[in-house]
Amino acid sequence: METLNVSVWRGNADGAFQTYDVPRHASQTVLDVVTHIQRVLDPTLAYRFACRVGMCGSCAMTINGVARWTCRTHIDKAVRNGNQIEIGPLRNLPVIRDLVTDMREFFDKWAKAKGQFEGGRTRRDDFARVAPDSTDRKMVDAGIECIGCGVCYSSCDVVAWNPDYLGPAALNRAWTLIKDERDIKSIERLRAVAGDAGCHSCHTHMSCTEHCPKQLSPTAGIAGLKRAISLAVLRGTL
Ligand code: SF4
Ligand code: SF4
Ligand code: FES
Repeated sequence: METLNVSVWRGNADGAFQTYDVPRHASQTVLDVVTHIQRVLDPTLAYRFACRVGMCGSCAMTINGVARWTCRTHIDKAVRNGNQIEIGPLRNLPVIRDLVTDMREFFDKWAKAKGQFEGGRTRRDDFARVAPDSTDRKMVDAGIECIGCGVCYSSCDVVAWNPDYLGPAALNRAWTLIKDERDIKSIERLRAVAGDAGCHSCHTHMSCTEHCPKQLSPTAGIAGLKRAISLAVLRGTL
């Protein structure tokens, strides 16, 4: 049977890679490999997953230096030199242990970017309806599919240079809400993303867009935020 040579990060930020031999199978994913190590070779290995079908966003790791979702990444597409694979925790986030990172600052930044929907209707009102052919809706229909996996955040060099930077996922979320005609907090949200740590810090490197497993474009959303802020300043509403 063919064997994979797998290096896995063990320990916290001061840890090191440890190597395991894992049997190779057809249609095997990176998550299958990690699961094999934890169930068969070393039960102390810590990692995170939930859905295994690309829905929950919890299984992202760094595979051969690239942030990816592991449940939908096939080994055949990830190996180096035929059978080598290096699996580490996501970059730009504190490591709790092994392959598990602390996602708090990632989601705290969604809150800082005012990533919560605020509608103006009460439970006594009828449902708000957004026309399917609305231009604003079409602009962000893809963006709302974000699964919060952190791959874009981990791939962004500006986050690495400036830990306060809100990052691509939080800004993408803010953009989807700015374009939601039911939401009533647009101006507050624009203010939240207009500061030093906001959209103007983006260097348009496109790493987020290149690596997003859902093929979303946070870069386009960030450009939209920059335009919306300029317009609001010109109109004197910001
Ligand atoms: S486009 Fe902006 S948010 Fe995306 S990776 Fe580059 S700097 Fe980061
Ligand atoms: S924008 Fe893409 S890469 Fe970033 S958190 Fe959402 S799904 Fe993941
Ligand atoms: S386990 Fe849910 S997205 Fe991978």
